[in-house]
Amino acid sequence: MPQENIVLKNCGVIDPRQIATFLERDGFQALEKVRREMTPEAVTDEIKASGLRGRGGAGFPCGLKWEGTRKAPGGEKYVICNADEGEVGTFKDRYILERDPFTLIEGMAIAGYTLGAKTGFIYLRAEYHHLFDLLENAIRQIEEFGFLANFTIEIREGAGAYICGEESALMDAMEGKRGEARYRPPFPTTAGLWGKPTIINNVETLMNIPRIIRNGAGWFNQMGTERSKGTKVFSVSGDVPKPGVYELVLGSSLRELVEGLALAKNTKMIQIGGATGRIVPYEQIDTPLTFESVLGAGAVIVFDQSRDVIDIVHRTMEFLAEESCGKCTPCRQGTEVMVETLARFHRGEGLKKDLKDLADLSEVMTLTSLCGLGQAASNAVTDSLQHFKDAYESRVAGN
Ligand SMILES: Cc1cc2nc3c(=O)[nH]c(=O)nc-3n(C[C@H](O)[C@H](O)[C@H](O)COP(=O)(O)O)c2cc1C
Repeated sequence: MPQENIVLKNCGVIDPRQIATFLERDGFQALEKVRREMTPEAVTDEIKASGLRGRGGAGFPCGLKWEGTRKAPGGEKYVICNADEGEVGTFKDRYILERDPFTLIEGMAIAGYTLGAKTGFIYLRAEYHHLFDLLENAIRQIEEFGFLANFTIEIREGAGAYICGEESALMDAMEGKRGEARYRPPFPTTAGLWGKPTIINNVETLMNIPRIIRNGAGWFNQMGTERSKGTKVFSVSGDVPKPGVYELVLGSSLRELVEGLALAKNTKMIQIGGATGRIVPYEQIDTPLTFESVLGAGAVIVFDQSRDVIDIVHRTMEFLAEESCGKCTPCRQGTEVMVETLARFHRGEGLKKDLKDLADLSEVMTLTSLCGLGQAASNAVTDSLQHFKDAYESRVAGN
């Protein structure tokens, strides 16, 4: 597998509890470079030129987000690191946080400098409570060395809701409200946390920032494809002998990622991007891993021939129905209706008309839901209907 450790460069090499081991590996040189040599405008230009896109799932161009927030009127601005990592099958952010909290904080401090922000937050998922002390320790050591200057970083812990990884629900949760997706516009760039302009980025996105600043946008954007630059960190699990976290240059194929890990000829399908991700049948194993094709947050779950596709899609939908915040009707009702319909197929009691109803409902949910959860909730249904229609048809028991 052609691995390229850029984001993961320090993982397993430094001691995440000892800042000295980070400083030996060029730690904080990017932060010092921006403070010494670059205006906030030059930083956003560099990030824009790098082509870096968000690694949290949506793939939004990072430089545009930073530029929009930097230019937004308003004195107080915030930086948020999204460490909620609730997507099914994703564990790469935990891997990074456990092994290299320093680079993440350096990336956040560069964002803070760019915005002129005084405060940054790490929104840590409830299940990662064990990382609280490690992160606190890293922040304290960095402060003691004076690297943060007048920027402070605080940790906020989640309470276990998948929807609170969605950026607007996350900010509601941080404000002490029930986590629900917000109507947009306004976007967080102009009205985010407490109504102030806010940069919110995934852990992996922020990890790329110091690398880009130190090595230059040109170094970064020669890796990858035209619209997907740099590397991606994948969480690989399921029916593979070697599950784990792997970093590959974007545009590498799914085959390059899982071959050697998966028992290739026994593989039935691969779910990429978690519960709201895409299902790729084994026949399409040469699919490139890019934002243009399939990617999401980089969860890769391999299923072998013993797995029942209906069972997987049904359970995926049960999860999404449970986690829907309920604010918009298409998602709240649509996921429930899908669970009922898929349960019929699961029992071998599907109706012929269900096939069309599932396809129609998928379209409505995608077009009309308020946030990414509802918009992408039916991906597994749409893809399985396309690639594994036989599995549905063999369980039709009536009209
Ligand atoms: C239901 C849902 C859950 C999400 N969960 C996460 C998450 O756990 N971590 C994350 O970084 N982004 C998550 N996102 C994406 C965020 O809304 C947002 O796009 C991201 O934090 C922006 O950072 P990025 O541009 O660096 O990717 C989720 C989106 C949706 C719709």
